[in-house]
Amino acid sequence: MSETDAVLDLAVRLARAAGAIQRERYETRLEIRAKTTPINLVTEVDHACEKLVVEGIAAERPRDAILAEEGSGRDREGARWRWVIDPLDGTVNYAHGYPRFCVSIGVELDSVRTVGVVYDPLLDELYSAVRGGGALRNGRPIRVSETEALGESLLATGFAYDVRGSDRDNLDHFAALVKRSRAVRRDGSAALDLCYVAAGRFDGFWELKLHAWDVAAGLLLVEEAGGRASDLRGGPVPPSGREVLASNGRIHDALLDALARAAAPA
Ligand code: IPD
Ligand code: CA
Ligand code: CA
Repeated sequence: MSETDAVLDLAVRLARAAGAIQRERYETRLEIRAKTTPINLVTEVDHACEKLVVEGIAAERPRDAILAEEGSGRDREGARWRWVIDPLDGTVNYAHGYPRFCVSIGVELDSVRTVGVVYDPLLDELYSAVRGGGALRNGRPIRVSETEALGESLLATGFAYDVRGSDRDNLDHFAALVKRSRAVRRDGSAALDLCYVAAGRFDGFWELKLHAWDVAAGLLLVEEAGGRASDLRGGPVPPSGREVLASNGRIHDALLDALARAAAPA
């Protein structure tokens, strides 16, 4: 087995195991705390999933670096492999019993996105990709949609946790694209939104102020499924994930244009 395949195999095992925790604890009584703002939540399930994934990597690959949302990762000077983990993407959904959340594990080799795994435990859908090897759902190849017209597209977006206090709130973009697309969903898990673009369920997705762990796996899925990813001006997605537009490629320029017009000063 190549080292990349071994990394993929570990990522899949850990995503399934963390997903099993999410499934078991779903709709049970949870300890819920606010983090940076009153709407940015964390539960003990986020922490339990992160512990399982981080300990699993440390046990099998002690030399790899780990960036994990809840802070239990560790940097490793000179490490070639870096794991970027969102232990529970969709925490607000999870806390409310809304059935849309996942585990997201992206792995970089020499700073290049190389392996991506996203697991939706309720639908038992496992998305996986290795750079150059295509994108899969439960082992079967997936492709982005063939939608050509923005007016026939189904889009997704999200709003950052500082939405109550920030002017850069994405509402201008949202209003513009509600008028220009077939519909826009706000479903609360950026990692799954990206996988849905990869699978052709959504034609496009954009969001501001995301973090590396939200997009580390999903962007590789989109690229390997034949889609396109950029920032909101068409440049490369910043490694921080703070500006992301992903699409089937065919409607990408129309999306860039609509987003630019929406944010332009009157
Ligand atoms: C959030 C979700 C949500 C997005 C937020 C993210 P979390 O991640 O991906 O869809 O709109 O910006 O922070 O906090 O549930 O891991
Ligand atoms: Ca997240
Ligand atoms: Ca999270």
